[in-house]
Amino acid sequence: MRRLLIAIMLVLLCLTSARLHAQDSSLAKTPPMGWNSWNLLGCKVSDQGVRAAADAMAASGMKDAGYKYINIDDCWEGHRDAQGNIQSNERFPDMKALADYVHSKGLKIGLYSSPGPKTCGGFEGSYRHEAQDARTYAAWGFDYLKYDWCSGDEVYKRTEMRDAYKKMGDALKASGRPIVYSLCEYGLEEVWKWAPSVGGNLWRNTGDLWRMPGDATYNDILAISYNAVLASAFAQQDGLGRFAGPGHWNDPDVLLVGNHDLTLDENKLHFSLWAMLAAPLLTGNDLAHMKPEILGVLTNREVVAIDQDPLGVEAHRVWEDGPVDVWMRPLADGSMAVALFNKGESPSNITVLFRELGLPAKAEARDLWEHKDLGSFTDSFSTRVPQHAVVLLRMR
Ligand code: GLA
Repeated sequence: MRRLLIAIMLVLLCLTSARLHAQDSSLAKTPPMGWNSWNLLGCKVSDQGVRAAADAMAASGMKDAGYKYINIDDCWEGHRDAQGNIQSNERFPDMKALADYVHSKGLKIGLYSSPGPKTCGGFEGSYRHEAQDARTYAAWGFDYLKYDWCSGDEVYKRTEMRDAYKKMGDALKASGRPIVYSLCEYGLEEVWKWAPSVGGNLWRNTGDLWRMPGDATYNDILAISYNAVLASAFAQQDGLGRFAGPGHWNDPDVLLVGNHDLTLDENKLHFSLWAMLAAPLLTGNDLAHMKPEILGVLTNREVVAIDQDPLGVEAHRVWEDGPVDVWMRPLADGSMAVALFNKGESPSNITVLFRELGLPAKAEARDLWEHKDLGSFTDSFSTRVPQHAVVLLRMR
């Protein structure tokens, strides 16, 4: 009788975990990497702009560093035909030909829609056309969908949001093509708790990081990381990291690296934070005209490897002391990534104690921005970190 009860409990446990992770776990095993059109092109996005991004992705070295998705955001949509099939607008003459072109570069392609009748930009959404749209995306050869709430509030109650997202999640699965499913509803309704169960591979957990050119600052990046991770971490004790893992990721929005007036150190801090958070690395910059130092940040393979670590455990904060923030994440090979952030306005000496990181008394450190082995340390590691900068280490 006891054995039977245990067996029943095990079956129930398996069923629950299958329900919680209903997303296709062969997709987005590591956080998606690529480019998204919104920050650079907004509603001027076109077939030509997307092809140019794919060309630059392949030619610049970004593709070799692991970037693969070329994602069309809002403003590609036209009207529906008499059968209700979604059409692209005049800036996109042939979606299938465009997808074929991007694929011919060894890349993948994504697009955008909304659960409501209209997208955030006021274009045609997928409301009441979910299955039909998913079939169209699959027939065109698309590999990724960002599904943005916006007018969802006009037709759904907030309590129905989950079902609205599930409708498209199921439709994508039924389309027969593996399509990464990216939920965008700004962290409403504690999306991290249910996104995987509706098929989501990633979910925005914040509002837009993007500001009009010139307006986005270093403080926006800090604010969003607080908003996305820290503030919620306090509210929920353990933070959002525990909801993420291979196949399902928190998404603090597109990277600002290479846009705006961030200094090189600020760009590195931003990129390091996203890598520590196992965030999608979707850039929003002009890939064809980036400065070599920006390309250097985006293609730093040692930092990308932290983001893409197959263990998929998001970083957590070890401690914070005024402007100093120390985060760590365990990695698949038994080493750990440790980020020493100085958010302040002047340089700071930072010391980390190995026992606080869970490291043994002796550990070796490698600086991932300097590409330098720093040697072996006992009990602690100390370094000076400039203002608005990070020292990112791999320790073992
Ligand atoms: C919302 C999203 C952005 C972008 C725009 C497009 O604001 O959060 O990421 O997709 O819509 O209209």
